[in-house]
Amino acid sequence: MSETGQAVLDAIFARRSIRQYLEDPVEDDSLQAILEAGRWAPSGLNNQPWRFAVVKGPEVKNEIAAQTRYREIIRNAPVIIAVFLDNAESYDRVKDCQAIGACLQNMYLAAHALGLGGVWLGEILKNKERVAEILEAPDSYELMAVFAVGHPKNRQQKSQRKSLSEIIFKEL
Ligand SMILES: Cc1cc2nc3c(=O)[nH]c(=O)nc-3n(C[C@H](O)[C@H](O)[C@H](O)COP(=O)(O)O)c2cc1C
Repeated sequence: MSETGQAVLDAIFARRSIRQYLEDPVEDDSLQAILEAGRWAPSGLNNQPWRFAVVKGPEVKNEIAAQTRYREIIRNAPVIIAVFLDNAESYDRVKDCQAIGACLQNMYLAAHALGLGGVWLGEILKNKERVAEILEAPDSYELMAVFAVGHPKNRQQKSQRKSLSEIIFKEL
């Protein structure tokens, strides 16, 4: 396997959700690279239905933080990216949501590759209308997730997965 191929696989396996951050800001170049990685996700018909709101300012960030029980993660993250689905661009809800998932995974992997850490926050969706309001998002934008990112406080996170034998239900 090529070195690049190995690096991609290594990143997929080593990436973890990072929920605690140092105070250091995320460099503009890194933030840009994360957004670019999201932008280059695949989407059905290449309709690119994702829209981003990037929030560093503590006032708005704290207002958004108050919409989830994971508020401390958002408060302590130097930057968050709210990821919206533009329903005006939508042609098939399931496929568009899948594309948004790919977009978030790209951002996860980009953050990891840059030595940063992020976490995909979904619990906040219970208040998605309020978050859209705080961010003055257009009516057609629907919140899909908030991605919090920063310099990891530590990298010792562990995670588990079901074994392949549990999830492959048929092999013919
Ligand atoms: C759709 C989705 C929603 C998630 N929502 C949250 C959340 O609200 N809060 C949180 O701390 N982590 C959240 N996560 C992160 C998962 O908890 C995490 O990916 C999972 O436990 C596996 O851990 P790992 O990412 O470190 O491998 C979410 C992940 C996904 C894909």
